[in-house]
Amino acid sequence: MVTRFASTRIVLKQGDITREKVDAIVNAANSHMRGGGGVDGAIHRAGGPAILEDCKRVVPDGTSLAPGKVVMTTAGQLPARVVIHTVGPVWAGGSQGEDETLALCYINCLHLAASAGLKTLAFPAISTGVYGYPFDLACSLALHVIREFCRVHPAVIEEVRLIYFNQADHQAAKTHLSALNSE
Ligand code: APR
Repeated sequence: MVTRFASTRIVLKQGDITREKVDAIVNAANSHMRGGGGVDGAIHRAGGPAILEDCKRVVPDGTSLAPGKVVMTTAGQLPARVVIHTVGPVWAGGSQGEDETLALCYINCLHLAASAGLKTLAFPAISTGVYGYPFDLACSLALHVIREFCRVHPAVIEEVRLIYFNQADHQAAKTHLSALNSE
């Protein structure tokens, strides 16, 4: 499904984000930045050890990346040029500012990509796996945040892809996007 927010193309796809040939893919990392499961594990497996080495450089032993923050590393052997790592909120019922932290993940990824002159970006559904964020809440929030960024910063990012690992999430996301477009 393809649409536009201002002049930015928005593409919803089902697939494996490690295969996306874009300037930057976003990793749903953890604060330690030493790999993990889910999309984090997939990116490190597919990208190779260069990504972990770069993670150790940008988040040295004894330090951590706070939820909502972002760092950029090499993409190693991935088709993407770089990986933007962000740490999503762990869902704690919705009253611990999880929505604000998740919004910051998307906003900070977009700003970091823009500041680095990157034009195409692919996101996974941050926090909706291990971190337990309800998919529909996270998806709707992501679409609203991305649309607002594109409205305020037109023609900065050319294309944003939202990559869903399974069909159910992809289908749900298309419904959310259709609802947003009819707002
Ligand atoms: N491509 C695209 N999306 C993927 C892929 C993939 N290869 N693998 C998993 N996903 C999807 C999941 O289906 C989920 O919708 O990414 C979304 C985020 O799930 P997680 O990867 O579990 O990330 P998150 O919920 O943010 O939890 C982060 O999990 O992997 C660990 O180290 C990571 O501790 C961190 C935590």
